[in-house]
Amino acid sequence: MTEKESGRLASQIRRLYGANRRAARPFWLCLTEFAAGTPIYEQCFRMNDGFAAYLMDTTPESYLDLFPLEAIVYLTPDSENVLEDIDPSKVYVLGGLVDESIHKQLTLRRAREQGLQTARLPIREFMVRAPNCRNYHSETLAINQVFDVLVTYYETRSWPAALRAGVSSGKGYVLPDPAEQAETAQRTTAAQGNALLCAEELQEAPA
Ligand SMILES: C[S@@+](CC[C@H](N)C(=O)[O-])C[C@H]1O[C@@H](n2cnc3c(N)ncnc32)[C@H](O)[C@@H]1O
Repeated sequence: MTEKESGRLASQIRRLYGANRRAARPFWLCLTEFAAGTPIYEQCFRMNDGFAAYLMDTTPESYLDLFPLEAIVYLTPDSENVLEDIDPSKVYVLGGLVDESIHKQLTLRRAREQGLQTARLPIREFMVRAPNCRNYHSETLAINQVFDVLVTYYETRSWPAALRAGVSSGKGYVLPDPAEQAETAQRTTAAQGNALLCAEELQEAPA
C-alpha cells in the first residue's frame, strides 16, 4: 500500500472506531498484523488523535494464530456465500485494503488459501441497481462502510436499515420502494425455501 492508501485506511479505522463507540451494541475490535514500523501503524498514530487510548486491541499476530479457524468468517465482496445473520460466537475479519477493484478477489483468494469461511453482505438481495450516468454499480465498500452495515444490523436485525446506513448512493445501489421491498423479502424467503427443498431432495436420493 502506498503512503496515501495507508492514510486512507487509518482514517477509515478512525471512523469505524467512532461508529463502534456510538453503537448500542458495540463489537469487540482487534487490529491484527498491526506491527510497529509498518506504514499503517505509523499512520494510525500520526493521523488519529488519541489512538493509543482507543478501546481496541492491537497485535502484531495474525488472526490465524489468535482464533480457532472454524470461528473465523472472512468478509469479502467476492464470496459466493451471503451473510444472513451475525453470530456473536464468530470472528468477522475485514481486509485492511483501500482498493476497490485493483486487486480483485484478493481477500477471497487469501481466505480460500487459509481454509476460512467467507461471506459477502446481502447487497444484491435487498437493494437494486440505480440508473446513473456512469452506469457504475459496486458492491465493494470501504471497511468503515462495511462496519456501519454490521453495527446497524446488529442493533436492528434489519438488513434494509443496515444497508441504508452503510451503502452510500455513490455505489449505484438503492433500496427499492417499500412495495417492491416486501416483494424482494418474499422472493428471498421463497429462494431459501427452495434451497432447503434441494437439500432434502439430495438427502433422500441415496435411499
Ligand atoms: C475496499 S475493500 C477491499 C476490496 C479488495 N479488492 C478485496 O479483495 O477484498 C475492504 C474490505 O472490506 C470488506 N468488504 C468490502 N465490501 C464488502 C462486501 N460487499 N461484503 C463483505 N465484505 C466487504 C472486505 O473485508 C474487504 O477486504
